[in-house]
Amino acid sequence: MSTTFQLDTATSRANPTPAPMKRLTVPKVMQRKKDGTTEEPLVMLTAYTARMAQLLDAHCDILLVGDSLGQVIYGLPSTLPVTLDMMVAHGAAVVRGSYQSLVVIDMPFGSYEASPQQAFASASRIMAETGAAAVKLEGGVAMAETVRFLSQRGIPVMGHVGLTPQAVNALGGYMARGRSEAEEARIVEDGKAVADAGAFAVVVEGVVEDIAITLTRELAVPTIGIGGSAQCDGQVLVAEDMLGMFERTPRFVKRYNDLARIISDTAGEFAAEVRSRSFPGEAQVYKAK
Ligand code: KIV
Repeated sequence: MSTTFQLDTATSRANPTPAPMKRLTVPKVMQRKKDGTTEEPLVMLTAYTARMAQLLDAHCDILLVGDSLGQVIYGLPSTLPVTLDMMVAHGAAVVRGSYQSLVVIDMPFGSYEASPQQAFASASRIMAETGAAAVKLEGGVAMAETVRFLSQRGIPVMGHVGLTPQAVNALGGYMARGRSEAEEARIVEDGKAVADAGAFAVVVEGVVEDIAITLTRELAVPTIGIGGSAQCDGQVLVAEDMLGMFERTPRFVKRYNDLARIISDTAGEFAAEVRSRSFPGEAQVYKAK
């Protein structure tokens, strides 16, 4: 069943309900990098729900439905158990809740690595059932053939190199990558391989800064850093990390607010009012006349 219906603006609780606008497209994102420079860096945040998409949309160029939803939404220990069904459901919600950002959806672990054909079947389902304009997949040289296969068949692909969380077991953890010369060379080669294969942009995650700078200089397409460098063509963070929903975050996260405290304090206030019977008050109860 297709899930690509629009947000019902008549019943949306958002006020004012965001007005539909023209979405940023993949070619427009690519054009932001001209002759190797991006004047205005690309802004990307993760979103997993329609309401969060509504709130972030006006501020972003790209909304990423990241498989980080495994940890952030579902409390899973890693992104590995995330399924295609989860990505489709959350991807469709984010498309419904956004009007101007390009929506990119992560391909979950196990949905694309076996073959380009497997990747096409998964990616085409994501595109058809969510209405998103692109997918993201992790990996470099080993995934180049798949990136080419999808790109040549009308599926825009965002690459993702460096610290690739789906490979946590092979990498041995989530530590920054590229500290040895050999590893640095491999990551640069990975970035070039997916860009040469047709990726329209490349996420560069958790690498020593020189690698992010080299890739930004050498790739014709935009690099989007997360634990990369301020010199990348854009930046991405997990929205909940940036909002301060979690106490423990990686070094590359800046907590712009303390939403965890705000939510906890507010729930505490509600609980106190319920226990003292001061909620509901006059304003919240229905009277016969
Ligand atoms: O899953 C995710 O949220 C990501 C970003 C952090 C780049 O891949």
